[in-house]
Amino acid sequence: MKLALHGGTPIRTKPFPLSITTGNEEVEAGIKVLKSGLLSGFVGSPSDEFFGGKYVKELETAWSKKFNIKHSISCNSATSALIMAVGALEIGPGDEVIVPPYTMSATSTAILFYNAIPIFVDIEDDMFCLDAAKIEEAITPNTKAIITVDIHGQSSNIKEIMKIAKKHNLKVISDSSQAPGAKIDGAFVGTLADIGVFSLNRHKNIQCGEGGIAVTNDKELALRMSLIRNHAEALVGSEDERFVPKSLVNMLGFNFRMTEIEASIAIEQLKKLDILNAHRLKLTNYLHDKLKDQDILTIPKVRENATHIYYMDVYRFDEKKAGINRAKFIEALNKEGIPIWGGYLKPLYLEPLYQQKIAYKDGYPFVNNAHYTKKVNYNKGLCPVAERLYEKETIVNIFNYQPLNLDDAKDIAGGILKVIENLNELR
Ligand SMILES: Cc1ncc(COP(=O)(O)O)c(C=O)c1O
Repeated sequence: MKLALHGGTPIRTKPFPLSITTGNEEVEAGIKVLKSGLLSGFVGSPSDEFFGGKYVKELETAWSKKFNIKHSISCNSATSALIMAVGALEIGPGDEVIVPPYTMSATSTAILFYNAIPIFVDIEDDMFCLDAAKIEEAITPNTKAIITVDIHGQSSNIKEIMKIAKKHNLKVISDSSQAPGAKIDGAFVGTLADIGVFSLNRHKNIQCGEGGIAVTNDKELALRMSLIRNHAEALVGSEDERFVPKSLVNMLGFNFRMTEIEASIAIEQLKKLDILNAHRLKLTNYLHDKLKDQDILTIPKVRENATHIYYMDVYRFDEKKAGINRAKFIEALNKEGIPIWGGYLKPLYLEPLYQQKIAYKDGYPFVNNAHYTKKVNYNKGLCPVAERLYEKETIVNIFNYQPLNLDDAKDIAGGILKVIENLNELR
């Protein structure tokens, strides 16, 4: 078959629909809240309402039960949950936090909001998560914590990371935004760190439009995160120890509260988590089976004793074996009607924020910082694996969500195999 790039008929002409994970249950839940008129249950002062409304509390209880964790604190995004986590761990000016560069920007801006310094450590070649073997060489007397990311929907090497953290007295946040429901050694990802964070934004495996959840087994950390979520500074004068432990002198908070509508929708989505994840797995497995013998593409590796929920299905492209570069391969695929793209994600330290070293006025906190006089390295070449994957190798397929089905997966497989069969034409 002639490539569409060279005038042939494309494998697919209809566009892929957007991800829709909600149904009647979410509609009814949202309407019930709307009819009640109580769209948020929060009050930012010492009372039962400080911890949110009926649906927020119900969601948090259900989340804790499902994920087998003591405390779940909902909020308006995973970005907010990350900020709550960093704040609860009392990370501040002069502290360094180890983080992979291959993640969404909010993983490391959460560190900067507390004026601490992100220290980027490279990722694994085959599973794209923070490389535990490279963490210790980055630890300094300033290191306070590690943020590990369960990227694309599979667990990072959390067991090893927790071991290193224990040895060096560091705290660990698991940014599990992309991986609700993935497991490692029988436990849900996000629950093995000091704090885990999940996203409920519209692209995720389950969603409520915008939303986030932080989880922990530590009561004090849970309370601190609840405070940061809801105007901590207005609570710290309270005599009521339910809200403010005596040990806490002061704290700044935000309004990161989740509304009752989002919470009611998230409750329904949580009930569908296993079904929605299984759907993604079915479509992904189909595609992997079709592509398993193609040596120019490496199918994502799944960590031992772990499960992958395939928020994204990311392949490695071998330009030497293909005899063409990734851009040419993607161009041919896109012309076949398959909107797969190359290069997830640009290593964060190559973004202007880090290259120019200016988060706040006069370069603070990177420079002009009495708490931090070191010169942090964000030079190109810092994390060669993340750079190579971004520049040459990663190919991203996201088309495994509801309402897509096996016919759509068939088109993707058909498009990829057609381009591979015609590589000679592209060389
Ligand atoms: C790894 C990671 N961390 C954090 C976030 C931020 O999530 P939210 O959009 O809920 O703030 C995302 C969202 O894409 C993410 O993928």
